[in-house]
Amino acid sequence: MQNDSSAGYQPLFKSFATDAIHVGSEPEQWNSRAVVPPISLSTTFKQHGPGKHAGFDYSRCGNPTRSCLERAVAALDGAQYCLALSSGTAATLTITHLLKTGDGILCMNDVYGGTNEYFSKIAAEFGLDVSFADLTKLELLKAALKANTKMLWIETPTNPTLKVVDIKGCADIVHEHNKDIIVVVDNTFMSPYFQRPLALGADICMYSATKYMNGHSDVLMGLISLNRDDIYERLKFLQSAIGTVPSPFDCYMCHRGLKTLHLRMKQHFKNAMAAAQFLEADPRVDRVIFPGLPSHPQHELTKRQCTGCPGMISFYIKGKLEHASTFLSSLKLFTLADSLGGVESLAEHPVSMTHVSVPENEKKELGISDTLIRLSVGLEDEENIIADLDQALAAAVSISKHIIFLNIQMNNSS
Ligand SMILES: Cc1ncc(COP(=O)(O)O)c(C=O)c1O
Repeated sequence: MQNDSSAGYQPLFKSFATDAIHVGSEPEQWNSRAVVPPISLSTTFKQHGPGKHAGFDYSRCGNPTRSCLERAVAALDGAQYCLALSSGTAATLTITHLLKTGDGILCMNDVYGGTNEYFSKIAAEFGLDVSFADLTKLELLKAALKANTKMLWIETPTNPTLKVVDIKGCADIVHEHNKDIIVVVDNTFMSPYFQRPLALGADICMYSATKYMNGHSDVLMGLISLNRDDIYERLKFLQSAIGTVPSPFDCYMCHRGLKTLHLRMKQHFKNAMAAAQFLEADPRVDRVIFPGLPSHPQHELTKRQCTGCPGMISFYIKGKLEHASTFLSSLKLFTLADSLGGVESLAEHPVSMTHVSVPENEKKELGISDTLIRLSVGLEDEENIIADLDQALAAAVSISKHIIFLNIQMNNSS
């Protein structure tokens, strides 16, 4: 499986690996000529006159290690600017602070549970007019736009049902309605290796860098990339005024992780494709959702919009809650845990884990049911990944046999 234009996807972004490794890491920026940017722990910086400094004054407002990371991410997103924040959620909060009481925010209806919770339980209480719509249907987007809509929030592919949203289609409609509406894309699942939202018309691209960008499940971080000077100035002010900044150590770690993003994403795609094909062919599985499979409803859109697919797969196991639970607790290589995008394979149960806070009726409408399982396919050997899925499916099926056996025994004894 190749993730290049020959497989029908967009061509890979030019110089991606070179930029990931070199931008922000230039030895010439340090007197020591360090090849790896040092971790700058100082919270304050000497000024050569009152109010006169050499680029940094106080670490909340700017930090050399953070600045190296921000320059690297901007290059990878084809952006002029980047800001690093203390988590993906801190990035969401900081971006939302661009709005004022009474402003409307229209959000994709299937998003990370914490994003849904932040908008509906916190932003709404601060007087923002929050609404949700299925943005995979552009006619629903048109119908949902209001006079007070000031921000459109897209997540694509969505978490957990991996719907793919047409970023350019949405941005064109929204900007035609009102050119000042800020289009935000949560690009956490794709990473800039597979998708560049700013080139497709988005105003802001954001990440939970906790996932693929850092890639090693050991840093919480958020990132925002953009080109517009006015929004950048405001967000830079908000980043320091609200204080949603990451530590220099985490910036160093994320920058280090970024240098292998291209290699990791290629392998995530390859492993996930193999796992998705295995699951799709398996009679113990009801339905597999993976944008890289031709059976995915937006597979053609994915190929038009992206250079490939990340390691995220969702699937419905045949049976009931007990089958999903047995499958998840029988996994040996996959770890049953929240989060995604690390080198290790993870599995989770959205209905009782990442999306537990989403209201019941919404979960039902979105297809977040008892039998839905989400996988973050890691970078282990393909045959070990498939063998683990196979043995856990076998364990899940064995409980059906056990239930049938118990039913027969009960019928015989009555
Ligand atoms: C798509 C998406 N956006 C945002 C977030 C929030 O990021 P963080 O956990 O870094 O605050 C997550 C977390 O899982 C996510 O999956």
